[in-house]
Amino acid sequence: MYLGYLLETHSGVLRRFSLRELQVATDNFSRKNKLGRDYFGIVYKGQLADGSLVAVNRLKDPHRGTEPQFEKQLTSLKHKNLLIVQGFCMAPTERLIVYPYMANRSRAHQLRAEEDPEVHSGQLKMFSLRELQVATDGFSNKNILGRGGFGKVYKGRLADGSLVAVKRHREERSPGGELQFQTEIEMSINAVHHRNLLKLRGFCMTPTELLLVHPYMANGSVASRLRERLPTEPPLDWPTRRQIALVSARGLSYLHDHCDPKIIHRDFKAANILLDEEFEAVLGDFGLAKLIDCGDTYATTAVRGTIGHIAPEYLSTGKYSEKTDVFGYGITLLELITGKRAFDPARHANGDNVMLLDWFSCAGTGRSSWCRAHLDASRHGVP
Ligand SMILES: Nc1ncnc2c1ncn2[C@@H]1O[C@H](COP(=O)(O)OP(=O)(O)O)[C@@H](O)[C@H]1O
Ligand SMILES: [Mg+2]
Repeated sequence: MYLGYLLETHSGVLRRFSLRELQVATDNFSRKNKLGRDYFGIVYKGQLADGSLVAVNRLKDPHRGTEPQFEKQLTSLKHKNLLIVQGFCMAPTERLIVYPYMANRSRAHQLRAEEDPEVHSGQLKMFSLRELQVATDGFSNKNILGRGGFGKVYKGRLADGSLVAVKRHREERSPGGELQFQTEIEMSINAVHHRNLLKLRGFCMTPTELLLVHPYMANGSVASRLRERLPTEPPLDWPTRRQIALVSARGLSYLHDHCDPKIIHRDFKAANILLDEEFEAVLGDFGLAKLIDCGDTYATTAVRGTIGHIAPEYLSTGKYSEKTDVFGYGITLLELITGKRAFDPARHANGDNVMLLDWFSCAGTGRSSWCRAHLDASRHGVP
């Protein structure tokens, strides 16, 4: 189960409390310890035997549910509260969730790194906004590394000297944007376990800002290397392209085959593959990723992704599965081979197909001379 998985992989983050322990801590859920109530239940202040203060959420009856329901609940709460859940208690009649207690602050306040810069949650650090402003020179335009559908990414240097990429979600904090931000954090936790998935160092959440902090990838995205490189930068040679194809497939296969529930990336493309100083590839941008429970072969949702990379059956039915990513991967291979965009309206002017797949599959495919003629003209070391 997912809870088991979380406990296993993040041991030390989630602790299992006994009911007795939390009864003692909260003076048997005494009214004087009541901090407030939220959608799920009543929250009590408590003091554990080691003297530390906690906030204990005692779930309302309808939310107590069965063990599997509670597991789901806990997972979504963990998600909602950005991983600062400290532990839980499962008793026959009680379901309790334990958070660190912050004096005079609601849980929403606890999340505001600005006010609690030193809070660490598991392997993730909650950065203060100030820290990231200093690191990026006030989000200066000269530090912009790239932009995508959800905002800009800035290069930054932290106080300890390390280089980071700070992904700043668009100014307006739409509900969709927040969900995407949370998804990226949750999915990135899994990414910690594979060298070909972009790691997350931490995040910052304030009333006006949502920021993710990743290690800086010195050679940018594969898309920028293929199409926007500076004249001083050499083109990607053939062995490197082959290596990128191989290791990004490993990252993807980890998401599909080794994560439980499995993770569907839904936006596999050259712009979301990043290269470190050794040109080793990592797959990033988990903003559209989705979990699929074991046993399910697909799930249905509004179609998201990038034109030119979206699998036709996903586009027509809204059903996504591993195959959705495999399609995206295939198009990425074409990007790697040809250096062209998956979707390029400019090709229309030359009477060519705007979709790379259609362009590539036009008459003649399969004939090696034709293929060779269409390989990226800037290639090096083509066999
Ligand atoms: N860790 C990083 N190091 C260097 N460049 C990065 C890093 N993360 C993102 N970028 C650059 O920013 C671009 C957009 O980042 P991405 O995470 O894909 O954002 P979006 O979700 O908006 O698409 C990437 O294509 C890349 O050029
Ligand atoms: Mg992206």
